[in-house]
Amino acid sequence: MLRGRSILEPGDLSKEEFEEVFELAEKIMKDPAAYTHACDGKLLATLFYEPSTRTRLSFEAAMLRMGGQVIGFSEAGTSSVTKGESIADTVRTIACYADIVAMRHHKEGAPRIGTFAADIPLINAGDGGHQHPTQTLTDLLTILLMKGGFDNLTVGFCGDLKFGRTVHSLMKALTMYSGVRFMLISPEELVIPDYIRKEVLDKNNIEYKELRRLEEAIGKLDILYMTRVQKERFFNEEDYVRLKDSYILDQEKMSMARDDMIVLHPLPRVNEIAPEVDRDPRAVYFKQARYGMYVRMALIMKLLGVDDVSGERVVN
Ligand code: CP
Repeated sequence: MLRGRSILEPGDLSKEEFEEVFELAEKIMKDPAAYTHACDGKLLATLFYEPSTRTRLSFEAAMLRMGGQVIGFSEAGTSSVTKGESIADTVRTIACYADIVAMRHHKEGAPRIGTFAADIPLINAGDGGHQHPTQTLTDLLTILLMKGGFDNLTVGFCGDLKFGRTVHSLMKALTMYSGVRFMLISPEELVIPDYIRKEVLDKNNIEYKELRRLEEAIGKLDILYMTRVQKERFFNEEDYVRLKDSYILDQEKMSMARDDMIVLHPLPRVNEIAPEVDRDPRAVYFKQARYGMYVRMALIMKLLGVDDVSGERVVN
């Protein structure tokens, strides 16, 4: 039962609960009209202390498409945070007004602090370089729809694996499935953090290989998960400039990949995927962004206890 729960990281959902959310998301995709009143009278608060296009707007679109409403801020500068209000007090106040909160923050662990102050569901919409569980739901739904399942996949993660919270969250979720193998393609400076290596890969006996060149891996992959080198996580401009174009996926590299490989990217992209790749049917990152709205609709319904295919609210 997901009703009333907060979601801070993928580990907050069991494999069965992931499947429940995907099942509902697929039903919504097939018949969105059946859900246009699913959240009538409900209010979502989006507290975004860090910029976002997809996550904030897909959360808001999700709620609005289900008849609910949205309040919030897209930059902390317009809120009383500027007066020194704490995260705990902000969330405690918002919980007086809203039924559910989606929160993004540049500091790792900030949404967890919010959950101590709130008695309504709080969803981590990305915290620093840590976790991004609803991106993981988006990524997994895309994989499910495109590949039919998760077992025995070889997944290449390419780019910023150090600060990439979407990478950390997706790796963790994929450990639930059998036979997954990872190819970790990054510059030396942006390899996965030690805690992910120990707590996610080693602990779950995941087979993985670390590489520096995308060309060495691309032909062996079922999924290529490209990521941006994130300027906002660097302490100095010089390092960012040196590393930002470490990998550029273009049609020449795509010609080395299998016909059934798919390319995912959480977006935004900068230079790491050449626009020419967008025309390749294996490039599914804009479909992925769309699926993100449906999976967030399903998650909101589950956390609010709105769980009927017809959109009628379950009376608990
Ligand atoms: N994928 C993702 O988190 O995108 P935004 O930063 O635009 O929300």
